[in-house]
Amino acid sequence: MLKLNSVNKTFNRNSLDEHQALNNVNLHVAEGEFVTIIGGNGAGKSTLFNVISGSMLCDSGEIILGSEDITYMPEYKRASFIGRIFQDPMKGTAPNMTLGENLLIAYMRSTNRNIMGVPSKKEKDYIKEHLSSLDLGLENRMNTKIGLLSGGQRQAVTLVMATLVKPMLLLLDEHTAALDPLSAKTVTELTKKIVAENNITSLMITHNISSALDLGTRTIMMDSGSIVMDLKGEERKKASVQSLLAKFN
Ligand SMILES: Nc1ncnc2c1ncn2[C@@H]1O[C@H](COP(=O)(O)OP(=O)(O)OP(=O)(O)O)[C@@H](O)[C@H]1O
Ligand SMILES: [Mg+2]
Repeated sequence: MLKLNSVNKTFNRNSLDEHQALNNVNLHVAEGEFVTIIGGNGAGKSTLFNVISGSMLCDSGEIILGSEDITYMPEYKRASFIGRIFQDPMKGTAPNMTLGENLLIAYMRSTNRNIMGVPSKKEKDYIKEHLSSLDLGLENRMNTKIGLLSGGQRQAVTLVMATLVKPMLLLLDEHTAALDPLSAKTVTELTKKIVAENNITSLMITHNISSALDLGTRTIMMDSGSIVMDLKGEERKKASVQSLLAKFN
């Protein structure tokens, strides 16, 4: 589903601040795989997401999604089939618009339609049903401005927006890190449910090693712009938080 071949990204080339954030990254992710990504601050995890989502272009290498080479495809085109959620619950939603309006815009964008277009009643009903199936009570708050929802509710909404129409790839960048423990748990459970029910190919960055091993099907560790560990199957089942902590230096 996703293939990164020899991907490199250097910031501030030819200056004192030159820094290679991605160093010859090779990563192949199969359809339906759920990969958790760990690694110290500055390891290159978010940069990896940036080059996959197109918010930055890599310097060399290739990125293939499905059968398409997206290495140099503009971000707005990728946004219709790659969902991305950030740590900051303020990102990804328009705070002054209502929950209903935000969901409609997300829906129109994922279906490649003019976001100012008029959705049909059937489409509006679909969105509402989708929301109520999550049991968060948010379907009763369609007219509430997003900015008035709590951080946890907003992350739940962002997750719904990114998956309203099944994306080819879902990128989660520490999306529960800014939440209180209870909200983090709710959003984590919601992530599990949405990803499993729709079999969405997903990559999730987390600093929580225990949830990195607990969630998903495969765990990779990044260090200095490279993938230094790739665990799946039996080997992953046997891994412990202790054993992974020992690999951090
Ligand atoms: N736009 C940029 N300009 C210059 N340097 C950058 C830029 N973005 C990232 N970097 C540098 O690239 C390196 C990797 O950053 P990145 O944000 O990918 O790390 P990360 O693994 O996501 O870390 P964290 O866990 O702290 O979020 C860091 O040294 C960072 O300072
Ligand atoms: Mg980061």
